[in-house]
Amino acid sequence: MLTNIEFIQQSLELHLFFARIMKEHSFFLEIGFTPKNINFIRQCDYIRREFDMFLADVISISNGVISPDVLKSGEAVTPYTLKAEMASSYFTGITIPIELTESELGLKGNDMPVYNSVLEERVCILNERGMTLTKALANLKSTILSDVISCKMFTANYPLLIDHILREAKLYYNTIQKIQNREKVNLAKEANEQEIFWNRIMAEHSKFIRGLLDPTENELINTANNFGKEFDELTKEAKEAMDKSVSISKVTEDSLKAVKDIKKFKEQGTKGLIDCKIKSIIIPLLGDHTLREANHFLRLLNIFENVINK
Ligand SMILES: [Fe+2]
Ligand SMILES: [Fe+2]
Repeated sequence: MLTNIEFIQQSLELHLFFARIMKEHSFFLEIGFTPKNINFIRQCDYIRREFDMFLADVISISNGVISPDVLKSGEAVTPYTLKAEMASSYFTGITIPIELTESELGLKGNDMPVYNSVLEERVCILNERGMTLTKALANLKSTILSDVISCKMFTANYPLLIDHILREAKLYYNTIQKIQNREKVNLAKEANEQEIFWNRIMAEHSKFIRGLLDPTENELINTANNFGKEFDELTKEAKEAMDKSVSISKVTEDSLKAVKDIKKFKEQGTKGLIDCKIKSIIIPLLGDHTLREANHFLRLLNIFENVINK
């Protein structure tokens, strides 16, 4: 059972990472449609703005409450988020509330926050709202995916990307639900499941990047392709660790090394997109988005490594 403080901290930390991820998924979907699907554009835009408001409410009660490690990890915002948002807003004409990013950059962490029953109640309500919104977005993603793969609809987003962001929404929903039930996670078991999940996500990011670069960007295409293969291999190893044919500590160690490398690649890529140094059809915010997901996975891996080596 989670303590009251753990409940508050874990909820807010989860939302700071995932609510931003969800609002960006809505944005990526929104800009991928053709004018024929104006209804889908409107639905994605609506959910995106709902997540903006939700994230604003999360930020407004997070200062001095969440752990410094989460803030340091760069999973909520990175030094590139603001510029990536400004560039993506400029390209699409869609207003992105950069003041949320600015206030997140100013958040302070605290390892020992003081318990406050009013705050606990507010977090509990936010968790319910987060679940409702995420469920609505997941349903929309499912509909889009089935329309796309049955050739009823065209979108510039890969079917695998829609499936990928649907899996991320389901993970967010299930994690809120667990926290809301005050379930304490078994970190050793969690390590294996999360490593299967996120290594696959890293492999897919590499493949999306590979496929969205301009065909003349040979070197970057090769690097992305190699990361794709490496993370496919790590996903396989993580699955084998589930049935104990590979040790989980080895998978954790190998994943840590690989994620540190892909983090650098994504960081340089995001910077290159913002500075107009890379030819591609990647919207800059997608670069920063995948960088934050790598940062999130990296923080989890560091926790798992400590638990496993104890
Ligand atoms: Fe994502
Ligand atoms: Fe992702």
